[in-house]
Amino acid sequence: MPSVILDGKGLAERIRGELAGEVAKFRDRTGVTPGLSVVLVGEDPASRVYVRNKENAVKAAGMNGDVVRLPAESTQDEVLAAVDRLNADPAVHGILVQLPLPKHLDSRTIIERVDPLKDVDGFHTLNVGLLAQGTPRFVPCTPLGIIELLKDAEIDTRGAHVVVLGRSQVVGKPVALLLLQKGPGADATLTVCHTGTREPARFAREADILIAAMGVPEAVKADWVKPHAVVIDVGIHRKADGKLCGDVDFAEVSQVASKITPVPGGVGPMTVAMLLRNTLHAAELAVERRG
Ligand code: GUN
Repeated sequence: MPSVILDGKGLAERIRGELAGEVAKFRDRTGVTPGLSVVLVGEDPASRVYVRNKENAVKAAGMNGDVVRLPAESTQDEVLAAVDRLNADPAVHGILVQLPLPKHLDSRTIIERVDPLKDVDGFHTLNVGLLAQGTPRFVPCTPLGIIELLKDAEIDTRGAHVVVLGRSQVVGKPVALLLLQKGPGADATLTVCHTGTREPARFAREADILIAAMGVPEAVKADWVKPHAVVIDVGIHRKADGKLCGDVDFAEVSQVASKITPVPGGVGPMTVAMLLRNTLHAAELAVERRG
């Protein structure tokens, strides 16, 4: 029987509508409009599209959004100076440095320069540490979006065996840490596969919930999936014919899984919705600090 499609686009629209209401209430209560600034270095075409989507979503939610565009040949010091200016600006509550940065720049140093209380990406060491300790403050947006999708579809993670394919800082590691936490929407048993794993398909076949985030187009085939498993596809790739695909071979796997996210329209739109939620949270923290 074909899978049920997990409609991330529809859920993200609903959450964005709810957030717009929360932003309006927050503004009425505090006089503060949440603000997100994105730092975009260079002209990477995919990054430009992502940044435009983020900017539009921020504005549609009633927040302030702006993009600091820097030339591809900017020096490390120039990018750090841009981050410092945003750190010091009280109207900027959230800062996102769009990745990947040009190769001559040291991404880690630049991410560490973002004020951890404005780190809506959740990439700063302090926020990664808080998540690892089970007391999260800012959590990366894609993992948050995955958890929301599972919750909305009433997929019980408690005691479920979740297999994550990929150990990136952006998705694999933080989603594993989230699902390891105690409490509703977590309490899972985790296996994380990566480039050092022998026979990842063998582990994937044991999953009640399979999260594919290894960045390889259509690598997950039907024989990687236990019948009736839930499959979350985090990948996004453009094929030679111009069509988009994920890390999962959708045509095959949707015949085996009970529920599956499509690409596009699955995890991607949820990432943007979670960025808006993190930005509102950053503005709330700023108002609390102001007293
Ligand atoms: N590039 C691709 N995904 C992301 C993300 O979630 N955050 C940032 N900053 N850059 C990205």
